Amino acid sequence: MSTADKLERLRVLREDAQMGGGVTRLEQQHARGKLSARERLELLLDDGSFTELDAFVTHRATDFGLDDERYLGDGVITGFGRIDGRSVFVYSQDFTVFGGSLSEAHAEKICKIMDLAMENGAPIIGLSDSGGARIQEGVVSLGGYADIFLRNTMASGVVPQISLVMGPCAGGAVYSPAITDFVVMVEGTSYMFVTGPNVVRAVTHEEIDLEGLGGARVHNETSGVAHFLSPGEPQALQLARTLIGYLPSNNVDPPPRSDTWSEPSLDGVALDVLIPDSPKQSYDMHRVIGGIVDDGSFTEVHAEYARNIICGFGRVEGRTVGIVGQQPEVLAGVLDIDASDKAARFVRTCDCFNIPIVTLVDVPGFLPGVEQEHRGIIRHGAKLLYAYCEATVPKVTVITRKAYGGAYDVMSSKHVRGDMNYAWPTAEIAVMGVEGAVNIIFRDEIAAADDGSAERLRLVDEYQDRFANPYVAAARGYVDEVILPSETRARIAGALSVLQEKRQTVHPRKHGNIPL
Ligand code: HXC
Repeated sequence: MSTADKLERLRVLREDAQMGGGVTRLEQQHARGKLSARERLELLLDDGSFTELDAFVTHRATDFGLDDERYLGDGVITGFGRIDGRSVFVYSQDFTVFGGSLSEAHAEKICKIMDLAMENGAPIIGLSDSGGARIQEGVVSLGGYADIFLRNTMASGVVPQISLVMGPCAGGAVYSPAITDFVVMVEGTSYMFVTGPNVVRAVTHEEIDLEGLGGARVHNETSGVAHFLSPGEPQALQLARTLIGYLPSNNVDPPPRSDTWSEPSLDGVALDVLIPDSPKQSYDMHRVIGGIVDDGSFTEVHAEYARNIICGFGRVEGRTVGIVGQQPEVLAGVLDIDASDKAARFVRTCDCFNIPIVTLVDVPGFLPGVEQEHRGIIRHGAKLLYAYCEATVPKVTVITRKAYGGAYDVMSSKHVRGDMNYAWPTAEIAVMGVEGAVNIIFRDEIAAADDGSAERLRLVDEYQDRFANPYVAAARGYVDEVILPSETRARIAGALSVLQEKRQTVHPRKHGNIPL
């Protein structure tokens, strides 16, 4: 064969590798409202930055007629590219080849780029669109999944891992996205479940379709498995780019900082009149966030799940921060099981990737009730407490209104190593709400008074003045400064600047034992 023929052979093979499972299957993919595995990578990565590896890998199976059916790449496109100029490693499952199912060779390709990402300290972004284990390969495929799960776990907290679920993701396959830092799902075309509708029907006699069992909305609103709900694939891919923009490439690097930023969308002066006179009235904590972060920089995580607490990334003067704040508009911002789990996970995500945490506190306490107690609010609330206690990143706390009881301790208080703790003049830092406290402490006085209800009101006023304010805590140094709400952004920016070199160590140990 001449040199020219050899070069031509490579060109033909390359073209062949581009074709995946063929034109007909590609048309079917589009007809389902889905992009192809390659189209997705084009949208995800900077223009022209993708370098493919292992394009000529094929499966090695021979059973069930598989030796007559081989496709270059074997159903997954792997390689590396750039997002805003920074390296990322990627894999994108190709549903047109055996339904994107995972063979031994397919798994080896994914493992190779995961190993490269770890060695080079760069994020891993996985795009799933797969019928699960390659049925014809049996246990070899299960082994391939386990090889990926192990790498997901080893990479956890070392390099960021983002999972984009762009189609089916079923059976044990769900556990790879589940171990990663963020799961993005696409409304209408992606679904995740351990066992599908047919198995559910056979075992529990429940009738449910794919969407109702494990669609994007279910996992964003109800189960909390997914962190983001995307209306379409292009938006999901753009979201992954946005997320990478907040995150460092690995646990040793600092998060990227923008040199330029816009002032917040909400003038800080608006915060001075935000808190209602009545403690029973709510307000939107998103407005507080809007008055703190650089305009347009906030991306909420788990926005549809446990909405009584807000978690998200933003920037303050170009620096990435993780924001955790109660939402008084939903369940009065109470801490329940789901809110505790959501925030604990987010605090730990920030901590492992060197992202400072800003905590906005307006919490009436933990949610009372038999259901919450029996489902383990103690164990779940402990996760959030544990997460804040162990976090060594800069921690800035602002108490806007209520900080009652154990929830005061939990929410990045001074006692759990909050670095800078601010309170607004409207803060009420106390063991419990005023009414409840008066009913307990002055029960006898109220009962003995000629006019019990008038006496009760007088005592409520007295207690409110004495204890339901930030000054008792400030007198002890539990609050570093009582600030005007309009001063909040400036204080946070100053704190982040002074804390940027913060170093805090924990006692050497294999790992802590967070109450899971
Ligand atoms: C091999 C598969 C496959 C699989 C799909 N295909 N899943 N080939 N192994 N797991 C092939 C189909 O034969 C078909 O090939 C093509 O992919 C497209 O599949 P369709 O069924 O035509 O597509 P659609 O109607 O959209 O249905 C998608 C689907 C369905 C819901 C994913 O294909 C399906 O139910 N597949 C089986 C799912 C499954 O049971 N997987 C094993 C789960 S157990 P042609 O040649 O016609 O294009 C598991 C364990 C993992 O994954 C454990 C890890 C620890």
